Amino acid sequence: ENGLIASTITQTIYQHMKNISLDITKAQQFLPAGAVMALKEQVANAQKGLEDGTVPGNDFLGWLHLPSSITAEFLAEVKAVAADLRSKAEVIVVAGIGGSYLGAKAVIEGLQNSFAWLVKDEKTPAVVFAGNNIGEDYLSELTEYLKGKTFAIINISKSGTTTETALTFRLLKTQLEAQVGKEAARGLIVAVTDAKKGAARTCADKEGYRSFIIPDNVGGRFSVLTPVGLLPIACAGIDIEQLVAGAVAMEKQCGIDVPFEENPAAIYAATRNALYQNGKKIEILINYQPKLHFYAEWWKQLYGESEGKDGKGIFPASCDFTTDLHSMGQWIQDGERTIFETCISVENPERSLLFPHDEENLDGLNFLAGKRIDEVNKNAELGTRLAHVDGGVPNILISIERLDAYNFGQLIYFFEIACGISGQLLGVNAFNQPGVEAYKKNMFALLEKPGYEAETAAIKARLAAE
Ligand code: PA5
Repeated sequence: ENGLIASTITQTIYQHMKNISLDITKAQQFLPAGAVMALKEQVANAQKGLEDGTVPGNDFLGWLHLPSSITAEFLAEVKAVAADLRSKAEVIVVAGIGGSYLGAKAVIEGLQNSFAWLVKDEKTPAVVFAGNNIGEDYLSELTEYLKGKTFAIINISKSGTTTETALTFRLLKTQLEAQVGKEAARGLIVAVTDAKKGAARTCADKEGYRSFIIPDNVGGRFSVLTPVGLLPIACAGIDIEQLVAGAVAMEKQCGIDVPFEENPAAIYAATRNALYQNGKKIEILINYQPKLHFYAEWWKQLYGESEGKDGKGIFPASCDFTTDLHSMGQWIQDGERTIFETCISVENPERSLLFPHDEENLDGLNFLAGKRIDEVNKNAELGTRLAHVDGGVPNILISIERLDAYNFGQLIYFFEIACGISGQLLGVNAFNQPGVEAYKKNMFALLEKPGYEAETAAIKARLAAE
């Protein structure tokens, strides 16, 4: 029975989604019969709660119908600012952290040449990221790299007060003004922030920077389809219209009116929760394309911040295969059986590269001669999948036809809506992140930030007693 349901679901979904398929058969075999279908009603309630705005954290549901609400005029505005920055700057520095960074980084890395900064022509600006760490070497090397270059800054922060981003922005702004003068710097800085609140908004308004607004009701990790992601992505020369079109298509495919069996996000959310309820506490997002590394980073934030609370939540991890088969492969094959894998498989690479024949065959690799590199990769993928399933690791397979902007847009919305549903199944507020504040409070206390006097005294006393 279990197998039948699985193949029905797989087949149905395959027929309904464009360029993407979901296969849960190799996850279901580890679950009691009917475990996924048993969550159907809860999924329906979760969808209804999201639609009606009755779920916890309901003031942050702006992402739900965001794709279909994006207008052509708005995209044109984003593209115009991106084109202006591209025409003026040799380097575009995107300052932001967490949700104000990972979505853009994921899409840009996923769609651009792996060696973009080395192979680009002189007219194309390099897009680099900062404000996502406080590494002195990183920031010093960045400022050194920018010396004598015309660079632009996109300062992204919803709160407008995040330390990592604000600190980086001040460094970069100071450097830019010193290099090109205050007036020219004005035309090279764009803020993406709240409409009214925060230092980034105050600064943008006072200095007269161009700015985009992050909607109040869209949280950081759900904001890649706002200017937070769209502006840097457009700056990298990626087709944001296609990205949004893909997200719109997936919004329809995962709508509340779509039956459970045909709704890929509903099936994915139900499957991972059924696995969690059956002892699988860690989900590893797997890819076989190095370009997807940062997609997994984005996904980890989305699920980690949404679900890891109240002592609950699947731990979202990621591996790049086959690279990490040579580091984490042993653990996955034979370690504690508390994991499952979700693999994003790319059916067609953008390029074709054949493995050459060698007369001497000193490396013994002539059995591969004439084959595409991707054929080797696909066999590694299949072999790994079978081995890990044999080793007791449930496997959810998401295949996408190719890595392009449209499919990326589909994948983004797919994981967002699945996350929204999944959080309801888990019984948490999927749209807050109270736990993120703990480190900030300690850091500010240690740095003796004005307003933190009591915390400073308390933390000093604690450290003295340790
Ligand atoms: O998802 C979130 O809300 C966070 O990860 C934020 O995006 C991150 O902390 C950055 O915040 P801000 O955009 O306010 O600088």
